[in-house]
Amino acid sequence: MAEAEKNSGIRLRRMIRDDLPEVLGIERRAFSNPWPLSTFEGEIQNTGLSFPLVAVDEGTGGIVGYCIYWVIHDEVQVNNIAVHPDYRRRRIAEDMLRGIFAELRKRNIRAVLLEVRAGNGPARLLYEKLGFNAIGRRKDYYTHPTEDAVVMELVLGPDRL
Ligand SMILES: CC(C)(COP(=O)(O)OP(=O)(O)OC[C@H]1O[C@@H](n2cnc3c(N)ncnc32)[C@H](O)[C@@H]1OP(=O)(O)O)[C@@H](O)C(=O)NCCC(=O)NCCS
Repeated sequence: MAEAEKNSGIRLRRMIRDDLPEVLGIERRAFSNPWPLSTFEGEIQNTGLSFPLVAVDEGTGGIVGYCIYWVIHDEVQVNNIAVHPDYRRRRIAEDMLRGIFAELRKRNIRAVLLEVRAGNGPARLLYEKLGFNAIGRRKDYYTHPTEDAVVMELVLGPDRL
């Protein structure tokens, strides 16, 4: 996103290398098979394709969540999203994604795609609330533990959110 988004004390901005200790701390608490440091470094460097964003609590200055997506022509692939365990259920993920989608609409992005663990109830409910539909399943896509992925799609349109 070109400009930082402001939303109820949470500001969205591009991830930088100095953020990575905090980001990795959240990642390791969020996932059973967390991304390593090198993957986050790659996303930060991949400026043509990747949009790694952090959500910052303006009061404390701390990172409370992040989202990483790729823009591929008129489609977006969300590759990672997590919120710090102490900040969950405050609509931080929802506000983050709504802010991102508003920017994507301005850039004429047609659709947003993502994969989610079949058993990840909170994430699936989040995506359903935002209007995503399940469009497929990838068997044994995830490891640690092995689990199917549900592929979800949101077709962006002016009236969808
Ligand atoms: C999934 C995750 C990002 C949600 O973040 P969050 O900031 O707590 O979610 P929000 O507060 O924005 O929730 C928005 C909506 O999502 C749904 N939701 C989110 N967490 C939920 C939960 N634990 N139980 C039920 N519904 C949930 C609800 O519909 C909620 O709306 P509501 O508050 O009106 O009920 C967070 O739980 C997380 O970091 N999980 C670990 C990482 C992960 O699984 N990432 C997704 C990978 S695909």
